[in-house]
Amino acid sequence: MTAPSAPIHQDELKTLVGQAALQYVRPGEIVGVGTGSTVNKFIDALASMKGEIKGAVSSSVASTERLLALGIPVFDANAVEHLGVYIDGADEIDGQGYMVKGGGAALTREKIVAALAQQFVCIADASKLVAHLGAFPLPVEVIPMAAGQITRRFADLGGHAQLRLKDGQPLVTDNGQHILDVHGLKITDPLAFESQVNQWPGVVTVGVFAHQKAQVCLLGTPEGVRTLTY
Ligand code: 5RP
Repeated sequence: MTAPSAPIHQDELKTLVGQAALQYVRPGEIVGVGTGSTVNKFIDALASMKGEIKGAVSSSVASTERLLALGIPVFDANAVEHLGVYIDGADEIDGQGYMVKGGGAALTREKIVAALAQQFVCIADASKLVAHLGAFPLPVEVIPMAAGQITRRFADLGGHAQLRLKDGQPLVTDNGQHILDVHGLKITDPLAFESQVNQWPGVVTVGVFAHQKAQVCLLGTPEGVRTLTY
């Protein structure tokens, strides 16, 4: 009788998909790089290709620091008109490639860099795949003076918005703004929902990525990396 194999840890799944994403990086190009623990695995893997790529456009101070520490040049987003691929994680991804993002508070720059790219490749462990978006509290970056009225608008939709704190103080994003995490939403039409919330004064970025959805998801499962295309 063979001993049962140990279950694959979530961290190993992140490593697997981070490495698998290298196949989407085209030599000679600049690659768009997201933010988070899964992307950190990708950045570490990307170091093995640093001689083959021009560099990266980064979606956060944290990713920039990691890229630079590994010797990968980082370009300002304004210096780049077009990226072949943007690689990032997600907090939730559904069967159409629509995502909830922003658990790491980098959603605004993530959406900006994603909008430069021809292809969004999402890298995620299997726990991120959902039938419907909304179980993960929806991150929304807001101008602080609008937080009260935006909280009331979400309440009208059945959501409960909480100001994200860090060390007991409001978390301040890379852009100097605050994050609301909205619990209890049912996001049945992600495209319409994203458009609606984008219209509210004081919303910087809503963490629904439907207009900038993924075209590919590399999903880390105990059986290996599954490639989902949308
Ligand atoms: C950061 C993000 C991340 O992609 C998302 O939170 C997933 O992070 P992780 O890979 O650590 O689970 O949107 O703003």
